[in-house]
Amino acid sequence: MVILDGKATSEKIKLEIAQLVKEKVAAGGKRPHLAAILVGNDGASQTYVGNKERACAQVGFNSTLHRFPAEISQEELIKKIQEINGNDDVDGLIVQLPLPEHIDEDAIINAIDPSKDVDGFHPVNVGKMTLGLPTFLPATPYGILRLLDEYGIETSGKHCVIIGRSNIVGRPLANLMSLKDYPGDCTVTICHSRTKNIDNYTKQADIIIAALGSPGFVKGDMVREGAVVVDVGITRVADTSKKSGYRLEGDVDFESVASKASYITPVPGGVGPMTIVSLMVNTLKAAEGK
Ligand code: GUN
Repeated sequence: MVILDGKATSEKIKLEIAQLVKEKVAAGGKRPHLAAILVGNDGASQTYVGNKERACAQVGFNSTLHRFPAEISQEELIKKIQEINGNDDVDGLIVQLPLPEHIDEDAIINAIDPSKDVDGFHPVNVGKMTLGLPTFLPATPYGILRLLDEYGIETSGKHCVIIGRSNIVGRPLANLMSLKDYPGDCTVTICHSRTKNIDNYTKQADIIIAALGSPGFVKGDMVREGAVVVDVGITRVADTSKKSGYRLEGDVDFESVASKASYITPVPGGVGPMTIVSLMVNTLKAAEGK
C-alpha cells in the first residue's frame, strides 16, 4: 500500500509556483492577487480561508480578505463582487461557501466574473469543464487529478465510484473522470445518500473517491483488494486531547481500508493541501490570462 502524500506533493507545486512568481516579478510583471470573501463566523470556513491566505503568502501572491457579518444582504454582497470584478489588480476572486440561508448561492456565483472565477463554480466555467475545454477546474477535483497524475495511477478503462454528488466535488469529479483524457477515461458511477446497497458499487470499484462528509463511512469490507482510495472528507470531530478541541476525520475508515488498498490518501495531509495548491495554480493561470 502506498500513501498518496498530498502534503509533500502540494509543497513541491508551491515551490514551483513561487519560482515562477519570482521570475515574473523580477521581469517587471504584476504579482498575482487573490481576493476572498468570507461571510459570517463559521469556524471551518475561517480555517479554510486562513489556509488559502497563508498559501498565497508562501507562493508570493498578494491576497485580500473581505469579511462581512452573517447579516449582510445579498444586494450588498453582489455590489462588493462587482467592485472586485472591476478591480484590475485582482486576478482571482473566491466567495467561501456555504453562505447564510438568506443568500442565494447561485446568484452570488453568477455575479463573479468568469475570468476571475478561480473556484471554477460559475456556470460558464462548469460548462467549459464539462465539454473538456480549457477553464478553471474546481480546486478539490483538480487537486485529486494532480495527485493521481503525480503517482502515475492508471485510470483509462477503470471503474471509478464517487460517493457524493455536491457541485463542489462529486459532480465535477464525475465529469472530469469520464472525459477522454488523463487522468480520466473511466467508467464512472456516482453514489449518494439515496443509493441502495452502496457496497454493491464500491466492491466493483478500481478507484473509490469518498466525498460525502460522514466520518469512517467507507469500511474495509466495502473495498476490493488493490483499489485506489481517495478520501475527501474532513469532518471536525470533538476531541478534548487536541489544543483546538477537535480532530479531522475522513470519510474512509483508514485502518480497515488501508490493508486492502493499493493507494490511499491520509486525512489530514491528502486531498486538503492539494485543494489549496490547486487554487494557487488557478490564480496564477488567471494572472497569466491577462
Ligand atoms: N467550501 C468548501 N469548499 C470550497 C471551495 O473549494 N471553494 C469555496 N469558495 N468554498 C468552499
